[in-house]
Amino acid sequence: MENNGYNYLKVLLLTILFLNSPNNSWGRKHGDGVQPLSQINILGTTLDLHKEVHLDVSYILLDSKGNEEKVPCRHMARTESMSLVQENEKSKLKMLKNEGDEVQSTTTKESYGYIARVTVDIDIDQPSPDDWVGVFSPSKFNVSASCQEVGNKRVEEPYICTAPIKYKYVNHSTPNYLETGKATVEFDLINQRADFAFAVFSGGLSNPKLVKITEPISPFPNPKAPLYPRLAMGETWDVMTVTWTSGYNMDEAVPFVEWGRPGGSTMQSPAGTFTYTRNQMCASPARTIGWRDPGFIHTSFLKDLWPNTVYSYRMGHLILSDGSYVWSKNYKFKSPPFPGESSLQRVVIFGDMGKGERDGSNEYADYQPGALNTTDQLTKDIDNIDAVFLIGDLPYANGYISQWDQFTAQVEPIASSVPFMVASGNHERDSPDSGSFYANNDSGGECGVPAETTFYVPAKNRAKFWYSADYGMFHFCIADTEHDWRAGTEQYKFLEECLASVNRHKQPWLIFAGHRPLGYSSNKWFGEEGSFEEPMGRDDLQKLWQKYRVDIAFWGHVHNYERTCPVYQNQCVKSKEETSHYSGVVDGTIHVVAGGGGAHLNEFSPIKTSWSIYRDYDFGFVKLTAFNYSSLQFEYKKSSDGKVYDSFTISRDYKDVLSCVHDSCAPYTLAS
Ligand SMILES: *[C@@H]1O[C@H](CO)[C@@H](O)[C@H](O)[C@H]1NC(C)=O
Ligand SMILES: *[C@@H]1O[C@H](CO)[C@@H](O)[C@H](O)[C@H]1NC(C)=O
Ligand SMILES: *[C@@H]1O[C@H](CO)[C@@H](O)[C@H](O)[C@H]1NC(C)=O
Ligand SMILES: *[C@@H]1O[C@H](CO)[C@@H](O)[C@H](O)[C@H]1NC(C)=O
Ligand SMILES: *[C@@H]1O[C@H](CO)[C@@H](O)[C@H](O)[C@H]1NC(C)=O
Repeated sequence: MENNGYNYLKVLLLTILFLNSPNNSWGRKHGDGVQPLSQINILGTTLDLHKEVHLDVSYILLDSKGNEEKVPCRHMARTESMSLVQENEKSKLKMLKNEGDEVQSTTTKESYGYIARVTVDIDIDQPSPDDWVGVFSPSKFNVSASCQEVGNKRVEEPYICTAPIKYKYVNHSTPNYLETGKATVEFDLINQRADFAFAVFSGGLSNPKLVKITEPISPFPNPKAPLYPRLAMGETWDVMTVTWTSGYNMDEAVPFVEWGRPGGSTMQSPAGTFTYTRNQMCASPARTIGWRDPGFIHTSFLKDLWPNTVYSYRMGHLILSDGSYVWSKNYKFKSPPFPGESSLQRVVIFGDMGKGERDGSNEYADYQPGALNTTDQLTKDIDNIDAVFLIGDLPYANGYISQWDQFTAQVEPIASSVPFMVASGNHERDSPDSGSFYANNDSGGECGVPAETTFYVPAKNRAKFWYSADYGMFHFCIADTEHDWRAGTEQYKFLEECLASVNRHKQPWLIFAGHRPLGYSSNKWFGEEGSFEEPMGRDDLQKLWQKYRVDIAFWGHVHNYERTCPVYQNQCVKSKEETSHYSGVVDGTIHVVAGGGGAHLNEFSPIKTSWSIYRDYDFGFVKLTAFNYSSLQFEYKKSSDGKVYDSFTISRDYKDVLSCVHDSCAPYTLAS
């Protein structure tokens, strides 16, 4: 989805007058929301030290399921004085280290995915309704004169060059705050490899005035712990890749995965260590206020898997200085079947999920209201899912790099158990002057770098996000709609090769997927454009879908659900009454928009399109179940209740795939 939140920020910075213009539509193209963090005029921050404020911070550690951990609760010292620039750095570090020791001794070097539930108690003499609390990490803000260049030169110091990772309005948690000046604001924090501080601002988001900042806290026993594992299929079916995040660079520790069949012997496989830097970002805010160190990202290849076999695994780091090991939790996955093997195979496909904050932070713009429901439904049903495809627009970080950690933490229950295969969306890739097909600012300057580093995909070149994947009787061809797909391009050649290389006798279920609807969508803005697709979307690709008899093409980008009849050359090939069961020859491709993964919904066009069979303005996802070579079930489920709202089945024999229809007839058969 288009979202020029970055532009919106720029507007905020340019002139105060603009702030008062109520109908600024720059960030609201196609009725889109604006990413909440981008609404903070962070570079325009001024000081407001005249207020009498007391802040208290305390926290408890919860395990990732929300249960309280047996880690001692620590109470933080009251901050008595404003200390924006941390002068007495050494003594503070010492204090923290001593406090940390107590925690270390009870948890050894285990480093699990805790949540720190932090309580910030505020006592202020002049409360105002637009006071808010921002969470900053690392706790030491980037205070630098150089961020003036992109900010407003007229404001007084400080120049804060770093956006908070999230925030809450004080009045939201405590209704009588304005009368009493007392409030309690709670945040749930995940381990993001650095300490945290909480800053109280007045003046709302557009004219923030820093009132006070707390002492730093460092709640996690091991801030560098290996966390947030995400699985993905490798280039062949018998390789599973494990990608995770830690604070350990190569010169400090050796990363690896220890794995094996339960009860059997274990193996260790090495992992690579990767990261990305601020100057690898293409534009602001990723290069400026949205930048945050992503830590180290490791990928290991678990090879020579046996098919359909449960493996357990955990990530480890061998600490070079003392030879000790740091371990993650234990996880499990089931390896894919042999390609072409018939067994029960269940795959979930959807797009545009985004992230949500369970503690209620950041909800100002309500940008991805369905994200947590989708996450929770998939987590609940994870034992009945074999693989997940998230076809673009993952966290909507839009250049606020801290959001990638939060997203990998959110999807961990899913991505650590089944292959989590992603495609590239506009919010991962698009940036002007960076080779993306669309030259807008939708990725907030990320230009694909965080996405391709944070998630593994079995692409030859991960900057070009197209790939194929086999799961048993399924063959997937995943397109990268943010790069040119038209005839004659590198991507088109790949897609044709991907479609042509499948033997439908063994892999009857041929699935095409990409982010932007290159096929069919009755979405409102496509209706206004009169195209019902992305410009030039199906001009060339339709020939491939038909020639290679693609069963279903999936799209995201448009935040709703829609299913078409089997289409050939823009027409339904079956009677429109025939919607719940298909059989016989493959003479058309069913197009499905499954972009309701979580981001705010998009309206449909009032125009009735001839090929549209089912539309739903709600959050949801699709589940495909292959029972055998001749039976496939399609289900659309809502994220709110996990129930099925649209479905159909395909039953078909091999000869029906071989049958010559339309232009799929090979010319040399002399078939008419
Ligand atoms: C809290 O303050 C914000 C910003 O001033 C305002 O928009 C919102 O309505 C207030 N909410 C409550 C619950 O008072
Ligand atoms: C602080 O921000 C400025 C401007 O965005 C940047 O040039 C500088 O590298 C940053 N410093 C640190 C320590 O991150
Ligand atoms: C992207 O952002 C740049 C820098 O602010 C701006 O000059 C350009 O017009 C934007 N492009 C689009 C397509 O919005
Ligand atoms: C394939 O699975 C379907 C649905 O479970 C079943 O009805 C059918 O008999 C199976 N066909 C074969 C050939 O096993
Ligand atoms: C999330 O699910 C709950 C429980 O079913 C439902 O009440 C709520 O409306 C859902 N939220 C959204 C945004 O759909």
